[in-house]
Amino acid sequence: MYQRISIHGQWSSRLMFILAATGSAVGLGNIWKFPYLTGEYGGGAFVLVYLICLALVGIPILIAEVMMGRRGRQSPVFSWQTLAADAGANGSWKLVGWAGMLAGLIILSYYSVIAGWTLAYLVRMASGSLIRVTEEGAGSIFTQLVMDPERMLAWHTIFMVMTIKVISRGVKKGLEQAVRILMPLLFALLLVLVIYAWRHGDFAQAYEFMFNSDFSKLTPAALLTALGHAFFTLSVGVGAMMVYGAYLPSRVSIAKTSILVALLDTIVALLAGLVIFSIVFAHDLAAGDGPGLIFQTLPIAFGQMPGGSFFGALFFLLLVFTAWTSSIALIEPMVSWLVEKRDVDRIRAAIWTGIVAWLLGIVTILSLNSWSFSFSFGGQLKHHGLFDVLDILTSSIILPLGGLCVALFVGWVMSRESVSEELGGGKSIGFKLWYFVVRFITPVAVLLVFLRAIGVV
Ligand code: TRP
Repeated sequence: MYQRISIHGQWSSRLMFILAATGSAVGLGNIWKFPYLTGEYGGGAFVLVYLICLALVGIPILIAEVMMGRRGRQSPVFSWQTLAADAGANGSWKLVGWAGMLAGLIILSYYSVIAGWTLAYLVRMASGSLIRVTEEGAGSIFTQLVMDPERMLAWHTIFMVMTIKVISRGVKKGLEQAVRILMPLLFALLLVLVIYAWRHGDFAQAYEFMFNSDFSKLTPAALLTALGHAFFTLSVGVGAMMVYGAYLPSRVSIAKTSILVALLDTIVALLAGLVIFSIVFAHDLAAGDGPGLIFQTLPIAFGQMPGGSFFGALFFLLLVFTAWTSSIALIEPMVSWLVEKRDVDRIRAAIWTGIVAWLLGIVTILSLNSWSFSFSFGGQLKHHGLFDVLDILTSSIILPLGGLCVALFVGWVMSRESVSEELGGGKSIGFKLWYFVVRFITPVAVLLVFLRAIGVV
């Protein structure tokens, strides 16, 4: 069996990979986006479709991506290039690595802006200024933040510096050290909040909302959104899991580990949804108000609850941690590529990449107030501004197409021998099932949902 070595180092153990990959997967996507999408698309039916997308598309591609990374042992662009050469295939496959790297940068740019909001809200909650805030009050506090480019820029800058700081210290001293501390805290915070919501919120109604399916609300746009979100939440399609796979020790089972990561990610999303909706419903607030759900709606509820400032602050602290462990994964493909390609040191690579993402983030910030416009995509729903353009461009277009390419490459271009050598268990039922899904089900599902949403079929 042949072996390449990563020049960036390796995770010290399987557990460290699990923490890092889960840290990448669990993020604003789970706690901010998933609940507001569920609210917007009407609850249970959306959740069900999302779970199906995870099982049939997200998890098989996650396994494939980690596998490609470990086999290539380099930044995504070079891993694509090497694996394509190994398979005697066209060198253009590396363009997928490029597209992913750029998508990662775009996601990071607006991700950091939202993470900045969570920092701002952490301070507000902790200072007690949201106690007994009224609906108008919460609305105007949110609007003030979103209409104030300078304030948003300050928070965005702080968050980007936090990201660069970690990434510049490398795989073991930076990434691994960060997740070693942040992930246990993150799980502890979530647990505290679940207990709090269970005791003070309307858990039953939240459960009903999330798991009772009303299929009449399921439009083609909702399908594509659920699919896109399955990619987004597992961090697949941009090469982040590939580069994390490149640092994975050789003996670790990729399939088992990836499934565990996906399970943890799903559990966190479902628990976060239950926490948020039970608090929102206990105060008769609306679940369907979109991206403002946790910034506008939730603070009203926390403001009226016992110990609301404290638990509200814990909630936003949780968000900051999850965003932080994801942003370091978003930037890693580009940083590792710069180190390999240009032979610059990691610190410079981290700073330059961070600056590019930071500049792109300024565009998002300005689009929220100076140039707003609306458009629709995939029928029905109205979208606003550049922020939505970037979100749709990445989660609904580049990630699914990137994932499609991964499935096609692993299923049809790489030899079955190399795939099964890397994954192990080539004769097991699990492997055969996965291989079948990756070859046939995943590509067809992604294509169908995609074409349906853009109105071709
Ligand atoms: N999974 C992250 C979340 O749920 C967001 C994300 C999407 C991501 N693609 C990524 C994170 C790539 C790291 C790397 O919030």
